[in-house]
Amino acid sequence: MATGSPTLTRPPEAATDWTVPQDWDRFTAEEHDVWDTLFARQSKQLPGRAAQPFLDGLDVLHLSRPGIPNFEELSEKLMKTTGWEVVAVPGLIPDDAFFDHLANRRFPAGNFIRTADQLDYLQEPDVFHDVFGHVPLLADPVFADYMQAYGEGGLRSLKFGAIHKLARLYWYTVEFGLIREDDDLKIYGAGIVSSHGESIFALDSDSPNRLGFDLKRTMRTEYRIDDYQQTYFVIDDFEGLLQQTQETDFAPLYSELETLEDLPVTTILPEDHVMTHGTQAYALAKAAG
Ligand SMILES: [Fe+2]
Repeated sequence: MATGSPTLTRPPEAATDWTVPQDWDRFTAEEHDVWDTLFARQSKQLPGRAAQPFLDGLDVLHLSRPGIPNFEELSEKLMKTTGWEVVAVPGLIPDDAFFDHLANRRFPAGNFIRTADQLDYLQEPDVFHDVFGHVPLLADPVFADYMQAYGEGGLRSLKFGAIHKLARLYWYTVEFGLIREDDDLKIYGAGIVSSHGESIFALDSDSPNRLGFDLKRTMRTEYRIDDYQQTYFVIDDFEGLLQQTQETDFAPLYSELETLEDLPVTTILPEDHVMTHGTQAYALAKAAG
């Protein structure tokens, strides 16, 4: 999903950049079936919900064999499209390794898949989240550049001790972003498109807030990792997101953010562009048990 913790211990089989051989042949028939089940379910659900570049990018995942994609074949296809490749990692990896991969147009993907009896439960991002959720948009030239720009920004953020602020930008765009498309809202964040439940909730529920994207505001906003988001941010297009990320001078922004309070997930500010003022009924009901 987003980035890991710097205290992770690198397993002995991982290289210094945390990559491991995918060893595609070791996946069992059951594991490939889990991929196929999830793939068929989400591919059916997403038309009309996911942003067009995501739906177009799904083509990159149609490989010569069904089941979990072989990263060698996938990377060859992706490389021809936008110059990105997919590399296998054991799970969450440290921030510096993660940013370095993105800055070099390599997407690290978890080298395991959830079990058949836990299709909707995910403790750590697996290959379905990472590949189905993230790779289609890496086939979009603008989004592909945004991901690289994010990685470069991440490497620069290390010396400012500001990773947790920058991680929110990733969270509210790459993982849980919404986009305006032909006067409609569509989903593009990997955490949403790869989730059977949230790909409905994020668009149809009246519970969450939907607010216009603002870079600084997003970086002040806390997020939750344990359930559906309580606030989504809506961008106008990928070009604008890329441009803002490339043109923002993050050093003074980080200094300014130090002086501003973090915003709880449900906060709505007077200056927000509010598309949905959510009821938060879903979160309140969950909290009430
Ligand atoms: Fe992710």
